Amino acid sequence: MRTDEPLVLGIETSCDETGVGIVRGHTLLVDAVASSVDEHARFGGVVPEVASRAHLEAMVPTIERACAQAGVQLRDLDAVAVTAGPGLAGALLVGVAAAKALALALDKPIYGINHLAAHVAVDVVEHGPLPEPTMALLVSGGHSSLLLVPDVTGDVRPLGATVDDAAGEAFDKVARVLGLPFPGGPHIDRAARDGNRVAIDFPRGFTTGRDLARHRFDFSFSGLKTAVSRWVQIRQASGEDVPVADVAASFQEAVVDVLTRKAIAACREHGVDDLLIGGGVAANSRLRALAAARCASAGIRLRVPRPGLCTDNGAMVAALGSLAVARGRTPSELDLPADSSMPVTLVQA
Ligand code: KG4
Ligand code: ZN
Repeated sequence: MRTDEPLVLGIETSCDETGVGIVRGHTLLVDAVASSVDEHARFGGVVPEVASRAHLEAMVPTIERACAQAGVQLRDLDAVAVTAGPGLAGALLVGVAAAKALALALDKPIYGINHLAAHVAVDVVEHGPLPEPTMALLVSGGHSSLLLVPDVTGDVRPLGATVDDAAGEAFDKVARVLGLPFPGGPHIDRAARDGNRVAIDFPRGFTTGRDLARHRFDFSFSGLKTAVSRWVQIRQASGEDVPVADVAASFQEAVVDVLTRKAIAACREHGVDDLLIGGGVAANSRLRALAAARCASAGIRLRVPRPGLCTDNGAMVAALGSLAVARGRTPSELDLPADSSMPVTLVQA
């Protein structure tokens, strides 16, 4: 391994994962994650206060575990990177405070970086240098965005986003309607394997007429979610069994059809030949399969990090920090804020 490449530790605490990753250049040395997801399951969603407390407890042990597994001494780091936003305010504060303490104690530069850009940057540790510009479709419980990325360390342009629920949120809500556990995405994915994806023709938001004209690259999933619950209620009211696998498969198809259609249209319109899909929903098996098929027929190269790098983690923050160091980006100030609504155009705080 080359030692002239930047060695960067990344901290991620924007939601319910305490992630600590260490990257040297494009090489991932360790990706340590402690999740509080089980503590939120009985509430059916992430409880911010519970997440913040869990980060506080997990932070130091997770940093120690990451360093031990990577065989890295903190003093050898070239920089510390941390998610400055967007995310849950209290959760972000824990990570940012920890990163500042490290940077101050070690006298190292700090990079407060954007969570969404980090979801894009993480792919370098799996598939090597990022082609730029790249088109990025980011889909998770907290975000659904289509981004044009000429430079992941400094120039990220939003083309569209959800106007209501995030894609993962729709999976989680529909899972609840079907009596499946939280977080619902993986359960719907599994149930859908035995179902018929054309059994029920659920609506595709913002894909026709004036909606499409006004929201070319935006998404809307709340109408779909309502359509699924109404369909299930009608079935239940008439005393019939709910065909869970068919509902899951048809709902999932409606989501991934819209996501892939719009992502490919954005590539075509902007003359971009590379599409990257990231975020927790990128773990979805049907999304991966449909995106692969549609990209192949459109002549677009598709990059999807492995599922563990798609969900929130510290490696993605370290990867973006390492690129920022390598490209000579100026570090953040030590008084950098945690910004719960950090705009995607601000790659670094
Ligand atoms: O990126 P992530 O770990 O956290 C957020 O930033 O939200 O994404 C979690 C979301 C949840 O909504 C979960 O249901 C969804 O990703 N998810 C999936 C799958 N695995 C996780 N959705 C669909 N299919 C999956 N296989
Ligand atoms: Zn995320």
